[in-house]
Amino acid sequence: MFMDKKFYLETFGCQMNVVDSERIVDLLRQIGYSQVNSAEEAGLILLNTCSVRDKAERKVYGHLGRFKPLKDENPQLILGVGGCVAQQEGERLLEKLPYLDLVFGTHNIHKLPDMVRSVEENRGRCHETEFLDRETRIQLFPQRTEGDSITRFVTVMQGCDNFCSYCIVPHVRGREVSRPSAEILDEVRALAAAGVKEVTLIGQNVNSYGCKEQGEIGFAELLRQVHEVEGIERIRFTTSHPKDLSDELIDCFGELVKLCKHIHLPVQSGSDRILQLMNRGYSREQYLGKVRRLKAVCPEIRLTSDIIVGFPGETAADFEDTLSLMAEVGYADVFSFLYSPRPGTAAAQLADDLGAKEKQARFDRMLKQQEAVSRATWEGDVGRTLPVLVEGQSRQGGDQLFGRTTWNRIVNFDGPTELVGKVVPVKVTTNFKNSQLGELATGTEN
Ligand code: 5AD
Ligand code: SF4
Repeated sequence: MFMDKKFYLETFGCQMNVVDSERIVDLLRQIGYSQVNSAEEAGLILLNTCSVRDKAERKVYGHLGRFKPLKDENPQLILGVGGCVAQQEGERLLEKLPYLDLVFGTHNIHKLPDMVRSVEENRGRCHETEFLDRETRIQLFPQRTEGDSITRFVTVMQGCDNFCSYCIVPHVRGREVSRPSAEILDEVRALAAAGVKEVTLIGQNVNSYGCKEQGEIGFAELLRQVHEVEGIERIRFTTSHPKDLSDELIDCFGELVKLCKHIHLPVQSGSDRILQLMNRGYSREQYLGKVRRLKAVCPEIRLTSDIIVGFPGETAADFEDTLSLMAEVGYADVFSFLYSPRPGTAAAQLADDLGAKEKQARFDRMLKQQEAVSRATWEGDVGRTLPVLVEGQSRQGGDQLFGRTTWNRIVNFDGPTELVGKVVPVKVTTNFKNSQLGELATGTEN
């Protein structure tokens, strides 16, 4: 089997990594590689990794172990690791894993072609995990203008300066930098011209977009300008930090018709004491105040959240505060995580002394409470006719299409492929755990 110029790439973790992986694919294509879907066929295997939680990190090591036999069989095989684990571990990864050839950090993706060439030419194993300066990073923002899908991510900022006490992100992705708004708008216009209908503006904390760059516009203004771009039908953004969610930005949900009625607004905890230990920069009441404003400006808005269970020192009363906040907000979905200490973070100094059993019991209770609320939310859509942006043919095949509602929920329904890229009315008929089934209708309710 000819496997020289074929690569296999696996991506773990968040949307930032998804965008980084798109860039990796572009760069490898430029040096003559084509992507394959199985590691066995590839001459180059790369993992783009995540270290945000202990579980995510362990998964990476598990996967790497899986590739070792392939390397034993074919010593020419090039095996590389990028992303947050690579950034965190650097050269240590090469020491730990003798069968690994290259390690590239979060600021060094652009060096990948040279690194691959170097290994190809038997110049030895290599690692690049240096953080770059601000100016260089601004020049290196990923730019992709191909219209190969109906929806696309557009990176608006990278890094994070918040240093939430549990979080490894500022340590592995570096300080916050914003991309020039003129460049973002050029990219959105080019995407629209290429047939893209929905853009998701992404960054670790998009709400603080522009704040650190002299003369740059803020995030609400950026949204308004993206809203002006003809051809773009829908706009989303993620992730938001509650402390930086301004009234001006909240008002956008009432003003901008293309802005989807969904916000992911991670609360992390409902207890003031824990929020302070987490260094989140807002109180429970401040968070709830913002939620009330969002709902007042946009009554149909749905919120989702991230919550950490079992942060060091979390008492039963702190946990009850989180459950009551969740009930008060009425999240459409919650992503809950068991706390895990991350190396180098402030919280790693605190005693992680809540027993695993108690942590798990709290986690299960949270899940149960949320499941009921989520089910009620999504089942409430049954019988409603909602605008759906059609993204393509569903995995079921046949005549089935799939798209999303404004709340980012996938809906499958039968229809002709000419509808791909259009916003069409779909009557929701059945709700499943992660998607909905519907039928094409003639007009929406609103
Ligand atoms: N332990 C558990 N969950 C964490 N998260 C981030 N760091 C940790 C940690 N050390 C969660 C937060 C964040 C999401 C991406 O991951 O909830 O919003
Ligand atoms: Fe991590 Fe907090 Fe930054 Fe989010 S805002 S990436 S949780 S440090």
